[in-house]
Amino acid sequence: MKILVFGAGGQVGRETCRAAWPSRYVIACPDRKTIDITRSAAVSEILRRERPDLVINLAAFTSVDRAESEPHAAWAANCAGAAHIAAACDETAAALIHLSTDYVFNGRKSGPYEEKDKVDPLGVYGRSKEAGERAVRAALAHHVILRTAWVFGASGTNFVKTMLQLDGERRVLRVVADQRGTPTAAADIAAALIAIAEAIERGEAVWGTYHFAGDTPISWHGFAGAIFELAAPRHRSRPEVVPITTDQYPTPARRPINSVLDCRRIGKTFGIAPSPWRASLAAVLRELLDGPVQR
Ligand SMILES: NC(=O)c1ccc[n+]([C@@H]2O[C@H](COP(=O)([O-])OP(=O)(O)OC[C@H]3O[C@@H](n4cnc5c(N)ncnc54)[C@H](OP(=O)(O)O)[C@@H]3O)[C@@H](O)[C@H]2O)c1
Repeated sequence: MKILVFGAGGQVGRETCRAAWPSRYVIACPDRKTIDITRSAAVSEILRRERPDLVINLAAFTSVDRAESEPHAAWAANCAGAAHIAAACDETAAALIHLSTDYVFNGRKSGPYEEKDKVDPLGVYGRSKEAGERAVRAALAHHVILRTAWVFGASGTNFVKTMLQLDGERRVLRVVADQRGTPTAAADIAAALIAIAEAIERGEAVWGTYHFAGDTPISWHGFAGAIFELAAPRHRSRPEVVPITTDQYPTPARRPINSVLDCRRIGKTFGIAPSPWRASLAAVLRELLDGPVQR
């Protein structure tokens, strides 16, 4: 089975391209310079040339705040890019796994979000991703849309790396305590992608939209505490982490207060359990603080 990955240079992309895929799979991971998903002709050309059985789209404009001032760039990658990929998959009879986000929801629900819950994004990033989901559904029957949340890993820009970096600069960190979500390791998303690809290969895939995220909901403040607790044996200092409210930390984009995703459907269909984010965080911290692990 041949798999083509878009967004190979991002946090999930890097983990996906270095993950332990079964040896019978051929994984093509073109970089951003080779393929710009906003260019429809380029997307269709690479699919016609590579003839993958499965495409995994991890490419996206993910800067939530910058999307507010650069909406055209966000829509070009997150909506038009997704539409180009889905159309090219349809043309070449490839299946597609497309990554999406908790930010399609407004966060006002009191419990975890199920796949069937009403979408109502709060900002440009969420709106462009939600439109990308609709474009995929409209163009291609053989798709899996995988919504995830609060992604962290050893590469790219994410909350874990920001906390460790700020720790070197400040003794007190003020972190938002009234937004709740489920941190998800990029490597665990890669493992989920392998399990879904195997189900597709066996002809057992149930096409549609799924949630996959970490197992235990927490606030950003709680997550920061866990980062410093697990990093403590190796890290130079442990800052004081002070809880604040969202109102005390204004940002260009509004964020959902509740980002918790209900992951039961992916469990029932593909046998994939929510990822144990504390164990995965410990592994990421080992890699960040002690150097890369041997794989
Ligand atoms: N990060 C999160 O917390 C989070 C949460 C929920 C869902 N997600 C979703 O998960 C997926 C992966 O996210 P991530 O955290 O791995 O994102 P990321 O680290 O920002 O990586 C995205 C990758 O896409 C590339 N890209 C952007 N525009 C492109 C274009 N026009 N053509 C080709 N490549 C392009 C980027 O290249 P450059 O770096 O050169 O721009 C980058 O390598 C995305 O669909 C995202 O929406 C992420």
